[in-house]
Amino acid sequence: MRLDKFLAKCNLGTRSQVRVLLKQKQIKVNGQVENQPKRQIDEKVDAITFRDEPLKYETFVYYLLNKPKGIISATEDDKQKTVLDLLDDEGRHKLVFPVGRLDIDTHGLLLLTNNGKLAHAMLSPKKHVAKVYLAEVSGIMTEEDKEAFAQGIDLKDHHCQPAQLKILATDLANQSSRVEITIHEGKFHQIKRMVQVCGKSVTDLQRLSIGPLSLPNDLDLGDYRRLTPDELESLSIFGVDL
Ligand code: URA
Repeated sequence: MRLDKFLAKCNLGTRSQVRVLLKQKQIKVNGQVENQPKRQIDEKVDAITFRDEPLKYETFVYYLLNKPKGIISATEDDKQKTVLDLLDDEGRHKLVFPVGRLDIDTHGLLLLTNNGKLAHAMLSPKKHVAKVYLAEVSGIMTEEDKEAFAQGIDLKDHHCQPAQLKILATDLANQSSRVEITIHEGKFHQIKRMVQVCGKSVTDLQRLSIGPLSLPNDLDLGDYRRLTPDELESLSIFGVDL
């Protein structure tokens, strides 16, 4: 590809801005200063540097976001703030989108990427990717509820696949429970509706994990970071180019 295109894709600026960098002799190709925007390069073979720092063009990017409440899991909206509003320019330039949706009042782990094939594989019902949620519930969840989850809850429009309900704590005085729920599909308001079928209601919902990815303990609400090399490697189970 053309050198100026490559530099723009590396987020060094617009095509006209990177031409200025070339004129300023800040770019080297294989150790030699290059000032020609039209120079053809092979990004897989040539070593390109900016101020002597290597540049690498990434097709795909992956961010783990700790989504706060009050933000919608969409790429644009007329009224509400979206998860893209939490990213910097680099993320927005790469045209990332959320893999699946969390309700506006749900918080926790959201993967953002521009790798459509990965998103498709992770969301495919055939892959049965596990999603783990921590829920605060108004009402006492019981052993019978656990059994109902394991059998597959009947919603109005959908018979749920077997799901795991783990009762972490119950508070009889406050009539509330803390539970961990694992589902392998992603229907609209699924967790809230499953709990409702048991005669209780979710008062707080947090996603802890999706497939091999878990919410990092040190990621504050509203913060995001790139996947670590190990996390990226863990996504190879989906069998798509990363
Ligand atoms: N289930 C829900 O009810 N809401 C979510 O945001 C995710 C799963």
